[in-house]
Amino acid sequence: MTDTITIRRPDDWHVHLRDGDMLERVAPYTARQFARAIIMPNLAPPVTSVEQAAAYRDRIIAAAGPNFTPLMTAYLTDQADPHDLARGLADGVWVAAKLYPAGATTNSASGVTDIANIRPALARMEKIGMPLLVHGEATDPEVDVFDREAMFIDHILTGLIADFPALKIVFEHITTRQAAQFVADAPATVAATITPQHLHLSRNALFDGGLRPHAYCLPVLKREEHRLAVRAAATSGSPKYFLGTDSAPHARDAKESACGCAGIFNAPFALESYASVFDEEGALDKFEGFAAEHGPRFYGLPLNQGSVTLHRAPNQVPDAIGDLIPFHAGQALGWRLA
Ligand code: NCD
Ligand code: ZN
Repeated sequence: MTDTITIRRPDDWHVHLRDGDMLERVAPYTARQFARAIIMPNLAPPVTSVEQAAAYRDRIIAAAGPNFTPLMTAYLTDQADPHDLARGLADGVWVAAKLYPAGATTNSASGVTDIANIRPALARMEKIGMPLLVHGEATDPEVDVFDREAMFIDHILTGLIADFPALKIVFEHITTRQAAQFVADAPATVAATITPQHLHLSRNALFDGGLRPHAYCLPVLKREEHRLAVRAAATSGSPKYFLGTDSAPHARDAKESACGCAGIFNAPFALESYASVFDEEGALDKFEGFAAEHGPRFYGLPLNQGSVTLHRAPNQVPDAIGDLIPFHAGQALGWRLA
């Protein structure tokens, strides 16, 4: 049995670091585990301009320390300006742009109401090689919440790929068999991130002896068959799937509420959480690719230097970290980051 794994220093290709006090509290956890991270722009107000992103990047570096590189993303709105996107990419501020369908998730009210509105932006991004990151859920309130990801594939994503064949697209935090299969069959311009919660939990976890707000995230957890399909994709070794925690902290009272916020704070034990999945699947040899190689290759960024080591050892996750409840709270993981 493998009891120690050493991999190239990994990156997190999807994280919410928030701002202000929350940023100062959560950024060190991500910086402890990852060399770089793709920073989600869904602040209130959202990060839509190059200047806002440059200032936010400075605040992240101040909170996370010098050994961590935040990779900034533009929040696309109906008014997305192709020239600004190109300028931000050329200036080394933007790395990618994020499509939130309006109303899909936390702070997405300023998101895109109709893909037609961002066609000029997408055409420019395709030309300059700027990846599009998508929150892939249909927002029509008529669509069942558990079907929103599959609907997005048919109604939006298929058309996007056909219309912009050279545009790099990351289908963020995939949760379904349909999404895993779609990405597998898609051209090499399409990849996906996968969170630890969607590898560990099915939707039963939301109702385990009562309503479980700390298992609530978006896209919402799905049936067991979907969890198994996403696990198979993550551990397959395919370069199309890579690590994106979607760590999304909300204070305990905002989660434990009559209208609780979506998001799971998984940053403190993210690598240990993923490692346990790869271990259970007998795929520890595929972990380095998923965590440290597939992402940078897709984005066209250099692989990190240096390495991290995980040991097989009991690792107790605290019940709480201040007023944040971490993923796996109160449980013991079987791996520990050295
Ligand atoms: C995220 C958040 O809280 O910002 N929540 C979540 O459940 N994942 C938004 C998102 O990524 O959808
Ligand atoms: Zn997210």
